[in-house]
Amino acid sequence: MKISHIVVAIALTFSANVFSQTDKHYALSTSASGYKVDGKVKSTDAGLQIPLSLISDKKDGINLYGNTIENLVVDVDYETEERLHIKISDKEKKQYTVPDSPLGIERPNVVHRAEKANYDFQYTAKPFSFRVVRKSDKAVIFDTSNMPFVFEDQYLELSTKLPDDANIYGLGEVTAPFRRTTNITTIWARDNADDFYRNIYGSHPYYSEIRDGKAHGVLLMNSHGMDVVTADNRITYKVIGGILDFYFFVPKSGSPNDVSIAYTDLIGKPLMPSHWMLGWHHCRYGYKSINDVETVIKKYKEANIPLQTAWVDIDYMEETKDFSFDGVNFPKKRMIALGEQLHKEGQNYVVMVDPAISANTTYGPYVRGTEMDVWIKNPDGSDYVGMVWPGYTTFPDWWHPNASAYWEKEIGDFVDMLGVDGLWIDMNEPASFCLGSCGSGKVDAGKQPYRWLLPQEVQDANHAAQEEALKALGNPPGETRDLLYPKYVINNGGGNLSELTVATTALHYGNVPHYDIHNLYGHAESYITRNALIKQNSKARPFVLSRSTFVGTGKNAGHWTGDNHSLWEYLKSSLANILNMQMFGITYSGADVCGFNQNTTEELCTRWMSIGAFYPFARNHNAIGQSDQEPYLWNTTAEASRNALQVRYALLPYYYTLFEESHRLGTGVWRPLIFEYPQYNEIAANDLQVLVGSDILLSPVLDKGRTTVDAQFPPGIWYDWFTHETTVENVGKHAEVETVTLDAPITHIPVHIRGGSIIPTKQPKYTVGETYSTEYSLIIALDDSDTAKGRLYIDDGESLEVENSSDISFTYKKGKLSASGEFGYAHPEKLQKITIIGKGASKLTIAHTEHKSIELTKDDNSVTADNVSINLTEPFEIKFD
Ligand code: GLC
Repeated sequence: MKISHIVVAIALTFSANVFSQTDKHYALSTSASGYKVDGKVKSTDAGLQIPLSLISDKKDGINLYGNTIENLVVDVDYETEERLHIKISDKEKKQYTVPDSPLGIERPNVVHRAEKANYDFQYTAKPFSFRVVRKSDKAVIFDTSNMPFVFEDQYLELSTKLPDDANIYGLGEVTAPFRRTTNITTIWARDNADDFYRNIYGSHPYYSEIRDGKAHGVLLMNSHGMDVVTADNRITYKVIGGILDFYFFVPKSGSPNDVSIAYTDLIGKPLMPSHWMLGWHHCRYGYKSINDVETVIKKYKEANIPLQTAWVDIDYMEETKDFSFDGVNFPKKRMIALGEQLHKEGQNYVVMVDPAISANTTYGPYVRGTEMDVWIKNPDGSDYVGMVWPGYTTFPDWWHPNASAYWEKEIGDFVDMLGVDGLWIDMNEPASFCLGSCGSGKVDAGKQPYRWLLPQEVQDANHAAQEEALKALGNPPGETRDLLYPKYVINNGGGNLSELTVATTALHYGNVPHYDIHNLYGHAESYITRNALIKQNSKARPFVLSRSTFVGTGKNAGHWTGDNHSLWEYLKSSLANILNMQMFGITYSGADVCGFNQNTTEELCTRWMSIGAFYPFARNHNAIGQSDQEPYLWNTTAEASRNALQVRYALLPYYYTLFEESHRLGTGVWRPLIFEYPQYNEIAANDLQVLVGSDILLSPVLDKGRTTVDAQFPPGIWYDWFTHETTVENVGKHAEVETVTLDAPITHIPVHIRGGSIIPTKQPKYTVGETYSTEYSLIIALDDSDTAKGRLYIDDGESLEVENSSDISFTYKKGKLSASGEFGYAHPEKLQKITIIGKGASKLTIAHTEHKSIELTKDDNSVTADNVSINLTEPFEIKFD
């Protein structure tokens, strides 16, 4: 967080998406020459190869923002039935492409053309353009014809046509409505407090479109800075380097969830969290001593608000240096004891580690890193020294062959010593508080005042001097591009590319400039950190939470949406931000509950706790200097938190089952309504309600002063979680989406169960472990034909390599509940209670299990069998009369 930025961010919040059609970020390069097919189109094992050359009859159409590349190659690989790969690269292969290592992005080497592909690739020869057509309905899903196509060393431009008012989702990371409106999405990882419509921490050049109820996805695998314009019936990519490496995801079903599955088939499946990670987390920046942390843990308990994981921010460090302890306020001994105490109580412990290492010759991590030569370099080969919390810092170069060993040792020793359950890796865009290598020659200078605390004149003078010094360092040897000031200036909210981060001329291993690699830095750190944690403990699932992310980070780390604000707009936008992450395959994600920057209020924090309790990753986090926001501080907030967390904890088996599905398939844990009901366009823009999986609908209050919610319900039957009443019964052929005004007094969040689902639950207790040791219950919510289905996944909840697991399918039909599937987990808790909700339930009186008959107890809207006592170790049936 940078305090000066808070003010700027707020000023930008509501005006940032206004741009004019003459704005170069928005405009098409209409003078571009374009390319033609030049030579033989070859068939390859996986598809086609098309040689292109520049159409050179237009003199003003070349070198628009860089050096035009004359000869290109288009590789068209029909990779799978659902995935088409179109790679347009320079013939000489000089442009940077996203590498596999050290990123763990394992792109398949496809050697056979997929038969029966669900798409067609079509092209025109002069000028070259291409179309991707979905075979099943002949929809043209990508069409570059009659629009400029530019391929220069520092500027690539390509557009596709869109239908009117297209439903576009994705592209980020950006704080904006989930359904993208007319806008420029800039992709350049940036340490910024979530200003609306501007580039922030992560880089995801991926979108999905839903058209006439059918979805497809498009990824541009490119790590360079870019603007993506969604306006005027087109998407235009304006990219400052690399190649045009497109993937199209076109599942036969057209289901948005299947698009996510196809996408994560390529980029990697989301991580599988342990049970404990699904509990409630609490954190804050600015606790003054370990006493504060201990008090918070105690007060949570006194207020009976379940706290699973206590976090400690950089406050614990000595002068904010990684792997060190403030000897007075956070002594090492007490930090270790805190972990022991938490573990004794069945709770967990996470601390922060930043990538930047204090440049100080008496500091072990710096000395060892220097010996191993792992730092990012200046163009002249000296160490690059920027500035982060501890003053002047060096930055590990994750591409250096020694980087993994270095990080494994630092992290391994630290985690072993402190006994934490996971690491929170922050500031990995990477953030730097000065411009350029401002600490060159200043190693050992110690902690420096933060830039934004200096008088403006001093800041300006420092910045000017730093810029001169950066220019003086020049380009890396042999580099011909203008890395500092490329001619096409992306709409980076931070200004020039090198502002607030490592300079674009800095060098990574193999002489790769930061310019090419910037957007990959946090992802590479997440990959290396995860592996380091696995090395340290190969048994447990590692916990890594990363601020900066890239395509595929979800398999290494979770993500929080960064430094949001304690404002209603941010509570609202948190849903869209998280839904985006779900699409990007980072399903373990959440936003800072009650807001990070600025002071929260009782009402805001209450509402935020209510929905935050259901975030896939659920954590209250606050900034230094802001008023306290622990949920026990206000009675209503405490009550709302208990209410919502009771539901979350009851739903833990449901969440865990969804996470397993997400890990195996790539579907979201949270889903927008339109992903489950793509045929209903009136819910296309709804990002104020979410589905947990497909069966639980959350309709939170997100506006100040409101005590009702106008909630949209897709066709079907929807039951109130708390009362089991039928809120909506909207069935039959012509059923449409229905809007219902729901009561939502301050401590209540409306939660609904989809008729037709079977939800596994537990009895909520204080910790996740205690909750998990209670017996299972099933909620059977009947549809209009009195049937329902559901799933329950069970394993030990922590092992990295799962040896025994159960995957149980439940169906309820004609008064009979059957369980089938795999029953490999030997000692699951029993199934004790079954509740059936729905009209058909009112007639039931007795349940027959194999050995006994059980009386049902009834209330107005459901019947319950309280003591079925069934082992979940083999298939079973229960008959209801
Ligand atoms: C950054 C993080 C924030 C953290 C702070 C101090 O601003 O985004 O979550 O609390 O740094 O470490």
